[in-house]
Amino acid sequence: MTVVAVIGGTGADYFPGRNDAQLLAGDNAWGQPSAPIEQWCAHGHTVMFLARHGLSGRIPPHRVNYRANLQALKDAGAEQIIALNAVGGISVPAGELVIPDQLIDYTWGRAHTFYDAAEGPTEFIEFTSPYNSNVRQKLIHACERAGVSCTSRGTYGVTQGPRLETAAEIDRLERDGCDVVGMTAMPETALARELGIPYAALALIVNAAAGRGGDDGVAADGGAIHSDIVRYARATMADAARVIDAYLSDL
Ligand code: HPA
Repeated sequence: MTVVAVIGGTGADYFPGRNDAQLLAGDNAWGQPSAPIEQWCAHGHTVMFLARHGLSGRIPPHRVNYRANLQALKDAGAEQIIALNAVGGISVPAGELVIPDQLIDYTWGRAHTFYDAAEGPTEFIEFTSPYNSNVRQKLIHACERAGVSCTSRGTYGVTQGPRLETAAEIDRLERDGCDVVGMTAMPETALARELGIPYAALALIVNAAAGRGGDDGVAADGGAIHSDIVRYARATMADAARVIDAYLSDL
């Protein structure tokens, strides 16, 4: 029996198909998590779900209490975390699912570490490969089993938001080697590593990044707008739920 936590992102503030979820409050020394943790059983495993942006989806990326969220999942016994991130596609088209293997952090000013005391213990955590390779491989395999096509590697550029990027910023991210762009992978990914919880992400491409427009989920002027992003994320959530179901059934 494994305890698998799913952190839902934009448009993924609920998990389809769950039954009889139990609610866990999760308050801890870092504050209140974004929402109560929902917990249920599937395929003989315990599944937890936490809505990163809160139940009404209203907490903006830079105001999410990532430390409280990760600590709450750790305290509840999470042994693996699958993060869902709605992202813009730079080298990958809208509608595709990406399992990133790298990230570049462009965020600033976020409470980004548990090692935050003026004179407390500090550990330089290993972060060469930010995503856990075992969870990633299982996710890739789960996509195959669920019949959902995915891009099995990619670099996630994490921007501060909540505004979307300029076309020039996306050009720069592309030169840096980013394949997708989103606002929530950091500090979440690093905090999971600090807590020693194996963590990987399913990035749902919900729009073409700025200046790459013209695809579904993008407004007529080529710029993505929030309501399109949420609608597209809700649609791709069904694919993500099937992948997670396949993941659990094969653990
Ligand atoms: N940029 C940044 N974050 C995002 C995007 C984007 O285009 N789409 C969804 N989240």
